[in-house]
Amino acid sequence: MKNTDQPLLQPIKVGDLTLRNRVWMAPMTRSRAANPAKKVFELHDEYYRQRATAGLIITEGSQVSPQAVGYINTPGIYSEAQTEAWKSVTKAVHEEGGHIFIQLWHVGRMSHPDFHNGELPLSASATNPHSKSYTPEGFKETVAAKAMTLAEIKQTIADFKNAAKNAMEAGFDGVEIHSSNGYLFHQFFNGTSNHRTDEYGGSIENRARILFEVIEAIKEVMPENRIGLRLNPSLNGVFGMTMDEETIPTFDYIIKKLNDYNLAYLHLSEPFTDVSEVPFAEKNIAKRYRPIFKGTLVINSGFDQESGNRVIEDGDADAVAFGKPFISNPDLPERFAENASLAEWDQSTFYTVGEKGFIDYPSLQEAKVD
Ligand SMILES: Cc1cc2nc3c(=O)[nH]c(=O)nc-3n(C[C@H](O)[C@H](O)[C@H](O)COP(=O)(O)O)c2cc1C
Repeated sequence: MKNTDQPLLQPIKVGDLTLRNRVWMAPMTRSRAANPAKKVFELHDEYYRQRATAGLIITEGSQVSPQAVGYINTPGIYSEAQTEAWKSVTKAVHEEGGHIFIQLWHVGRMSHPDFHNGELPLSASATNPHSKSYTPEGFKETVAAKAMTLAEIKQTIADFKNAAKNAMEAGFDGVEIHSSNGYLFHQFFNGTSNHRTDEYGGSIENRARILFEVIEAIKEVMPENRIGLRLNPSLNGVFGMTMDEETIPTFDYIIKKLNDYNLAYLHLSEPFTDVSEVPFAEKNIAKRYRPIFKGTLVINSGFDQESGNRVIEDGDADAVAFGKPFISNPDLPERFAENASLAEWDQSTFYTVGEKGFIDYPSLQEAKVD
């Protein structure tokens, strides 16, 4: 007997969209766009079509400009050719009755000069995340970035606006601003990576400014209730991020201020690592921010069917974004409905080129036939 009464499988209204369930697919870089134009192609159509039963698909991070890139073979959403190529992905998902947002991405200092003809990557300040960058020649040590000029900040905001406009043209239902996981906007938020003394640094309000300017710019080209954004407040020791005493107050400020907008959703991640010993970290992100954020809240990281149902039942989130489980279980909502066991993911093919580990995980039905 199907168990369709569980909280994860209830429909949800997000802005003017009605999504068929609360099992959302988290954004995941899969590094299959191995072509000079950084375009998606037929493989991506099939990959996302297979996962269209998700309440909402959030695509892999997609760079908003050539400067925004930081990993090999990630797709872009800045050129006409890229926009054209995404059209068949959105068509495939819509043909299956699904919904899909594109994640708009700028990696900032997580990039490497090899991606920029030897020029330095850009960030809030000239800091080095002391991390690794996945370049065409393999993993390389990151370098100290170049602090963005005011003109470069303006240009970046314009790039996000252009990418959002392209996303609308490509038929996406909305966009998710990637302001999470130690990438560009997160580098502005945290005092350990932002040493600016102008209006983009210093106070909490200044460090958050760029994000709100991006939202304002994107609003000019698409409806506000189709804009989502992602935050990872307690990220520490990963992707070069180090928290300090102002980190959580900064996220408190940002999340409160997001209530001034009629956004599609706020997408939060629980800490990626054990932060029980980390000074200044908030250990329970959904519980802290559910009472603060008034709109749709989607929570992520480490959830399974049981904990996903619980977090919704407890009123701590409206939906759950599943990452790795969606890699190996294209029909994840169906598996939850059937209380079926889940297929294991193969980490060795997360970022490799081609079909393997991308479009060859069977659905429950296909697995039963085999
Ligand atoms: C292969 C892989 C690629 C990822 N790429 C992105 C990305 O492009 N953008 C992003 O915001 N998060 C990315 N993430 C993080 C996931 O969205 C998610 O936060 C993480 O996997 C934890 O959720 P899970 O426990 O359900 O997998 C990636 C994770 C994985 C495993």
